[in-house]
Amino acid sequence: MDFKTLATPAGGLAGVNADALLVVLAGGSAAAGLDAPLATAVEAAIKSGDFDAKAGATLYLHGLAGIKALRVVLAAAGDGSIKAIRKAVAAGLGAVKAGGSQHLAVAVVGAELTADHAAALVAAVAESLYVYRQTKPSAPAASRLQKISLVCAKDGAAALAEGLRLGEHLAAGTELARELANLPANHCTPRHLADTARRLGKEHGLKVEILERADCEKLGMGSFLAVAQGSAEAPKFIVARYQGAGKAEAPVVLVGKGITFDTGGISIKPSAEMDEMKFDMGGAASVLGTLRAVAGLKAKVNLVGIIPACENMPSSRAVKPGDVVTSLSGQTIEILNTDAEGRLILCDALSYAERLKPAVVVDIATLTGACVIALGHHRSGLFSGDDPLAAELLAAGEQALDPAWRMPLDEEYDEALKSNFADMGNVGPRAGGAITAAMFLKRFTAKLRWAHLDIAGTAWKSGAAKGATGRPVPLLTHFVLARAKRK
Ligand code: BES
Ligand code: MN
Ligand code: ZN
Repeated sequence: MDFKTLATPAGGLAGVNADALLVVLAGGSAAAGLDAPLATAVEAAIKSGDFDAKAGATLYLHGLAGIKALRVVLAAAGDGSIKAIRKAVAAGLGAVKAGGSQHLAVAVVGAELTADHAAALVAAVAESLYVYRQTKPSAPAASRLQKISLVCAKDGAAALAEGLRLGEHLAAGTELARELANLPANHCTPRHLADTARRLGKEHGLKVEILERADCEKLGMGSFLAVAQGSAEAPKFIVARYQGAGKAEAPVVLVGKGITFDTGGISIKPSAEMDEMKFDMGGAASVLGTLRAVAGLKAKVNLVGIIPACENMPSSRAVKPGDVVTSLSGQTIEILNTDAEGRLILCDALSYAERLKPAVVVDIATLTGACVIALGHHRSGLFSGDDPLAAELLAAGEQALDPAWRMPLDEEYDEALKSNFADMGNVGPRAGGAITAAMFLKRFTAKLRWAHLDIAGTAWKSGAAKGATGRPVPLLTHFVLARAKRK
């Protein structure tokens, strides 16, 4: 898809030369700010009861007299906030994406456009045109849309073009994350994640290193390997480095949970909805997606993605409840529940992150069902003892429309991890399960500026719209870009 800005023609929107014109109407009176032929059409549609200015309302009009574009779609965007405009674009697109249009022009009336609006427009387009096809040959044909023009005044065009560029790379990163997470576990293996990292490396100049099982054994990643040992599929420990700033600059490190399938292991999960555990590498997917976006934008920042990737399977070799393993940090862990495997692979990755001397480390994981109970599917759970870092991540989430919510990490919660046979157990009681999981990770981050995002509720949708969301690539990308700009 090609995104461009387009200067408003002298004759107003009626003169826009495109196959379709999407008019997004923001704020108060719907027809205000429109020139004659369009204003007449909008007023008539309101009068006849076919359109109202409420957010989300759309109306498709074909072959309007005096308007160059054959198709006109009106979409109401309420208060004109970025969120409302994004919704309106998605709704309006629904009316033209399956038709014959190749070139769609989008005009926003009643709101001052910013680069963030432009980025949100691209996100809305990418999201509504996305179709999963990798293993579904019968998937619907791709939309014929090839070009989207954002109609604007000449003055602000450069800033909006920059917003479109940001949006395009963000969308590419988000789509990569969606594609990886949607891909079934028999296709999306640890090896596939490693191959994807290598391919990204070639395309975007990342240095990619893959540690094999033997390498991890030598390093002493007893916790990660304990999870991996139940599967015939080889584990991969992926380290992908993007260098956009000077060598001396400390990198931002993102650690993504890469369980390509979570059966629960010997503590096996019930079979209902177990298929959704192919999404348990959503954290890993978001790390690769963010690397894609940040490298594509050539941001002046150093960014390292670390992905411990393996399957969690029951077998005669699988780790058993009560087994005690030694983590890379030297701390021992009693694995009381083999289904609490995410924290077991992340703890070794967090210890590994120390050697990169990072500025900050953020781990991203579909870690706990308890987080879904706490926050539902709208906000990701954010855990950090570092107030400034937490504030940066929360702000990035708001800006990206990919919001998170801060959760507590009081030391009182640490009690739950006591074990008689090791330095800690890997689970506590059911209550506060998302916090206990974060407290477990915290024990491996004493030397780091660290935050943890539990994305169990936000990485994918269940039900009829089952599929990966690509979250939190937007949050993470905004976070990394804001750090790049800070200097
Ligand atoms: N991958 C799951 C978490 C999960 C479950 C995410 C359901 C989304 C939906 C994780 O590995 C897991 O199984 N966690 C257990 C932890 C428990 C055993 C302490 C859970 O949440 O039940
Ligand atoms: Mn599990
Ligand atoms: Zn899991």
